[in-house]
Amino acid sequence: MKVDVLLGLQWGDEGKGKVVDVLTPRYDAVARFQGGPNAGHTLEFEGKKYVLRSIPSGIFQHGQVNIIGNGVVLDPVLFKQEAEELEKSGVDLRSILRISKKVHLITPTHRLLDAANEKAKGGKKIGTTGKGIGPTYTDKISRNGLRLGDVFHNFKEKYSALRQRHLDQLKALGAEPQDLEALEEKWMDAIVYLKGFSIVDSEFLINQLLKEGKSVLCEGAQGTLLDIDFGSYPFVTSSNTISAGACSGLGVAPNKIGEVFGIFKAYCTRVGSGPFPTELFDATGKRIRDLGHEYGAVTGRERRCGWIDLVALRYAIMLNGVTQLIMMKSDVLDGFDEIKACVAYKIKDVETRQFPFSIDESIEPVYKTLPGWKTDMTKMQSEDEFPKEFKDYIDFLEKELETPITIVSIGPDRSQTIVREKK
Ligand code: GDP
Ligand code: IMO
Ligand code: MG
Repeated sequence: MKVDVLLGLQWGDEGKGKVVDVLTPRYDAVARFQGGPNAGHTLEFEGKKYVLRSIPSGIFQHGQVNIIGNGVVLDPVLFKQEAEELEKSGVDLRSILRISKKVHLITPTHRLLDAANEKAKGGKKIGTTGKGIGPTYTDKISRNGLRLGDVFHNFKEKYSALRQRHLDQLKALGAEPQDLEALEEKWMDAIVYLKGFSIVDSEFLINQLLKEGKSVLCEGAQGTLLDIDFGSYPFVTSSNTISAGACSGLGVAPNKIGEVFGIFKAYCTRVGSGPFPTELFDATGKRIRDLGHEYGAVTGRERRCGWIDLVALRYAIMLNGVTQLIMMKSDVLDGFDEIKACVAYKIKDVETRQFPFSIDESIEPVYKTLPGWKTDMTKMQSEDEFPKEFKDYIDFLEKELETPITIVSIGPDRSQTIVREKK
């Protein structure tokens, strides 16, 4: 069996959590392969809403195995909070969750370093989620990190060495750690709690599942434009968010990858700093933010809003090898007279359809304007009910992106999902 991958094609928050939950019944297992509690994946069903950070979005279906892969960075304290809440609401997490021994641990000092690094950047802040993501991946790459499996071998010694390193770094940044002992006590408690979960060699588990003919869905976090290699560097996260990240983040060989589901919103959003060519600073941007409730699931920060960017989407589709597209939140545009789509960039009077090395103010988006569909689509049950203008919009996107749109999401609830018939 192959491994399918589902990931975001924009700057995150495309609606990955919702669709992973919807697709889970098709699979035997669901796995997260990168990122950490910087993610906030929202699911809504039966009148309830859940936000998942480190735990895969496949936990609410029918007992599928849910795996936190080696490519993930885990904060024990936030994991404990998340898991306790889920257990309270009746999810039998201990029986379905497996965590890789190789996940890297986010320590209290990683979070302090994240804040200190941001402060040191002055006006050039990345606008991180403050969850210690950058420093934890830095330690992983510089071969100083602490892995979950380490809690079973000389843990105190390894922790102390890393702690001292971090204190030196904080000192160099002029940051004075406050109440570190209290934070560490809570962290150590959370490590004990974590040990109560099934901690495994997840690369073997996943390959064994495949050998047995079982199917696996990989859940991306963040989005392609936040990828450490291909995103809007340096305003990116610290992991590979693209489909290749599923291979290294789970121990799955490239020839095992099957479908790649690329998720995008019918418009575009971004949290934190960094370039955003189609950003709207006017009343339309505010209207999209209000109608789409575009506020961060983790930080509550206002998301910046703008028109859909097909230059960036084509780039993301290419990098990920997307085989099927999933369009989210088209309902947010239900009342608009006109909809714009950026089909090319104009840079110093030259038009290009290729995503450039540097995205800065010199980019002028070239827009195509399409008529709005002016219909409330949120209660529709099948694509036959779609208004003509909306069908035309889908046709237009499929032609521009050379990839089929197989699912359309028309509201936050699990039920507001239209799977399109294959033509
Ligand atoms: P993720 O990080 O990619 O999982 O996305 P988030 O959960 O951070 O953000 C997506 C937001 O949009 C959440 O509040 C979802 O409940 C909501 N959402 C998902 N799909 C739709 C949709 O089709 N329409 C509307 N209006 N909201 C949606
Ligand atoms: P999900 O999985 C949107 C952004 C931050 C910041 C940059 C770096 O919910 O789509 P980090 O804390 O990772 O070092 O921050 O990346 N960012 C996200 N934006 N959705 C996310 O996750 C994000 N995770 C990180 O806002 O600009
Ligand atoms: Mg999110």
